[in-house]
Amino acid sequence: MAADRIMMGLDIGSSVTRAVIGSVNKDGQLMIDALCEKPTEGVRSGTILNIEQTLKTINSVINDAELQAGVEIHSVILGVGGEHIQGIPSNGVVPISNRDQEVTRDDIFRSIDVAKARELPQDQEILHVLVQEFIVDSRSGIKDPIDMTGHRLESKVLLISGSSSVCQNQRKCVQKAGLQVQRIMLQTVADSDVVLSPEEKEMGTILINIGAGSTNMIAYCQGGPVYAGGVAIGGDAVTNDIAYILNKPKQLAEQIKCESGACYVPSVNPSDVVIVPQVGGMPPERIAKKALAEVIEPRMAEIFIMLQSKLEELDLPAGFGGGVVLVGGGSLLSGVTDLASEIFKMPARIGFPEAIGGLDRSYINPQYSTVLGLLRSEAKKQSASSSNSSRKDSESRSFTSKIKGFFGRLF
Ligand SMILES: Nc1ncnc2c1ncn2[C@@H]1O[C@H](COP(=O)(O)OP(=O)(O)OP(=O)(O)O)[C@@H](O)[C@H]1O
Ligand SMILES: [Mg+2]
Repeated sequence: MAADRIMMGLDIGSSVTRAVIGSVNKDGQLMIDALCEKPTEGVRSGTILNIEQTLKTINSVINDAELQAGVEIHSVILGVGGEHIQGIPSNGVVPISNRDQEVTRDDIFRSIDVAKARELPQDQEILHVLVQEFIVDSRSGIKDPIDMTGHRLESKVLLISGSSSVCQNQRKCVQKAGLQVQRIMLQTVADSDVVLSPEEKEMGTILINIGAGSTNMIAYCQGGPVYAGGVAIGGDAVTNDIAYILNKPKQLAEQIKCESGACYVPSVNPSDVVIVPQVGGMPPERIAKKALAEVIEPRMAEIFIMLQSKLEELDLPAGFGGGVVLVGGGSLLSGVTDLASEIFKMPARIGFPEAIGGLDRSYINPQYSTVLGLLRSEAKKQSASSSNSSRKDSESRSFTSKIKGFFGRLF
């Protein structure tokens, strides 16, 4: 493989575990070398419930990916999500210590350390510190305060925390599979990296990942994250409703949902009919597509309303001009953008991950946004730190250029 830096992203989903191997070639371009997936066993709502079963899944998907890429992998970037995720707003204020009253890198680190130094809820560990903005004296909305003159620097951040025990079980599984966990990353941060543009974050955008056992959301306002969290309900709940109301096995209900389901009743043609195969050699049954949508819509609406109420609790500085962007397998449900648009009262679209070189384009699918985002963000992080270190010896290196990679990691 003509590449120098190889990495693996691993997304242990409640229904499907996905692994991607990628490498940054000599021209600095990210290329995908393998993308594999297997049905997950032992995970519910993003939480591992059976280590042995999950380990079996991980071993199998990693082996396939290694074979496909023709490399051996030693460490992974792991995605996490679920109800245990919390986005905690915090801020840190420090005096600007420099003799010329100019903000330095140290001031920024100190202000972020102050913002981080707060008591977390029990069993929570910090996964990310995402900077929303800096404030120098009374000037707010600053993204890069380096060299700005003032007396007081404030950093406003969103601390992203996750349950230590949930994360520890994920680490344990990966380690038992013989790999190191290079980094744990929030799934929706990874999604954002391949699905949202900086302009969308600036305009304000809500990204929602509808998985099987959980639905996760991150919201951006004026370029910075203002909310991150999730609910322990996803597409599986819709399947269970269909199975219960139509009195069908879960596997058949899943097939009916994916092939003929819709979640926005007004857009379903009243004369459309769904042919439902029967078990036990019985003749197929015909049901109105609208009746099926009437089973699905309330559950999907419930999920969106739960998320919407979380945003309503926030005191937001601006609106969401960029609308709602939906990813994850649940975003493939017909009518999902119409329903999201009606509930959130803003435009909604499906988020397709940006193209990355390498494999064919079949991965440009909202189900792969998390695993591709893990890879993309690690590549960005590596290129930021390598451009920093390659410039390290240069006498002409300005102080501002020294910190570019640092900002790349914070936002
Ligand atoms: N074509 C489709 N139409 C409707 N729903 C679909 C379709 N394809 C997949 N889904 C649903 O998407 C869900 C799986 O999505 P995804 O693979 O993103 O979840 P996951 O990552 O395994 O779970 P989680 O993120 O909750 O841990 C399932 O509920 C599945 O029924
Ligand atoms: Mg998922």
